[in-house]
Amino acid sequence: MSGPRIVAATPAAVAEAARALRAGDLVAFPTETVYGLGADADDPRAVARIFAAKRRPADHPVIVHLAEPEDVGAWAREVPPGAAALARAFWPGPLTLILPRAAHVSDAVTGGQDAVGLRVPSHPVARALLRAFAALGGRGVAAPSANRFGHVSPTTARHVADDLGDAVGTILDGGPCDVGIESTIVAFTAALPTLLRPGGVALRDIARVLGGEPSGRDVRAPRASGSLASHYAPRTPALLVAPGVLGAEVLQLAERDERVAVLARTVAQPAAFDGAWHAAPRAPEAYARDLYAALRALDAADADAILIEDVPDDPAWLAVRDRLTRATHGVDDDRD
Ligand code: TXA
Ligand code: MG
Repeated sequence: MSGPRIVAATPAAVAEAARALRAGDLVAFPTETVYGLGADADDPRAVARIFAAKRRPADHPVIVHLAEPEDVGAWAREVPPGAAALARAFWPGPLTLILPRAAHVSDAVTGGQDAVGLRVPSHPVARALLRAFAALGGRGVAAPSANRFGHVSPTTARHVADDLGDAVGTILDGGPCDVGIESTIVAFTAALPTLLRPGGVALRDIARVLGGEPSGRDVRAPRASGSLASHYAPRTPALLVAPGVLGAEVLQLAERDERVAVLARTVAQPAAFDGAWHAAPRAPEAYARDLYAALRALDAADADAILIEDVPDDPAWLAVRDRLTRATHGVDDDRD
C-alpha cells in the first residue's frame, strides 16, 4: 500500500491541492487551530468522503472554510449585527460562526440543519489554498478536524497521517499549529448568541465585542452531546489530579506496579518515577499549543492511566479545561 502523501506546502503543492479539491478529492491542510480534512463544500459526494475517511456519522455538520470574510454572504442568508461584529474583529482567525444557511447549502454540510458553520482561517497555507481554490471557481472548503472520529485533533501533518493513513490523498505540511485547539464556535440561530464551543478566541474577547457574554442556550440535537457511543480520546483512561497530590499519587500507583503516564504542569517529576512524564508549558496559550501532541505521545506510552495535573479554575483556561474535561470523562463532541 502506498502511504499518504505528506508534501511541503510550497506554492506549487498548494496549487495542485486546490485542483485536487475542485476535482472532488480530499486534502488535509494546516490551519492556525488544528489540521482540517477538506473537500469542496459544493460537492456533496466529496463531503461524503470526509465522513468515510474519518469514520464519522454522516449527520454531523462540518464547518465551511472561506478565503475572505466577504464570502460569508454566499453561504449565510442572514448575518446578524453581532455576528458581523465578531467577523470583523476575529476573521481571519480561530472563530466559527453558525448562521442561517443560504438555500443552496447542502445537507451533507449542515447535517440537515437550517444553519451552516463558517470560518475564515488565518494560517497562511490555509489562506493560500482557499484563494487558489476560489480562483478555480470554488466557493468554500468543508473541513472538520483531520482526525479519525474519536481521537484528539491533529496539530501536525504526521498526526493526520497516523490517524487517516491512506484515506486522505494529500496532506499539506505547514508545520505544527500555532493555537493547538479548535476554533471558538458562536451560534446566531436563536434569539441570543450562543457559545457552542470555547476555543482559540477567548470568551472575554467575544464578550467585549458583543457587549456581554453570549447567553443563549445550546439547544442542539442529542448528536452534538456526549450521548453517542463510548469511545473517546485519548484511548488510555485519563483523569484529572489536583497539583497538591499528583506527586504522591504517581508514586503510589507506581509502587502498585500500575503503569502511569503523566501530563504535569507545575509539579516536578519525582526522582523515583521513571515512567512517561510530560512537562507542559505553564501559560494557557502555550499549554493549548502543546496539548494534543502531548496527549498523543502519552497515549502511545501504553500506560494503564494518564494522570493530568489539573489546570487553574480561571476564565483564561476555559477552552483548555473544556478539552481536559472531555478527555477525562469520555464525553467528547470534539471527537468530531
Ligand atoms: O478549529 C476548527 O474549528 C477546526 C479547523 C479544521 O477549522 N475544525 C473543527 O471541525 O474543529 P470539527 O468538525 O472537528 O468540529 C466542528 C464542530 C462540530 O462539533 C460540529 O458539530 C459543529 O462544529 N458544527 C459545525 N457546523 C455546525 C452547524 N451548522 N450547527 C451546529 N454545529 C455545527
Ligand atoms: Mg473535530
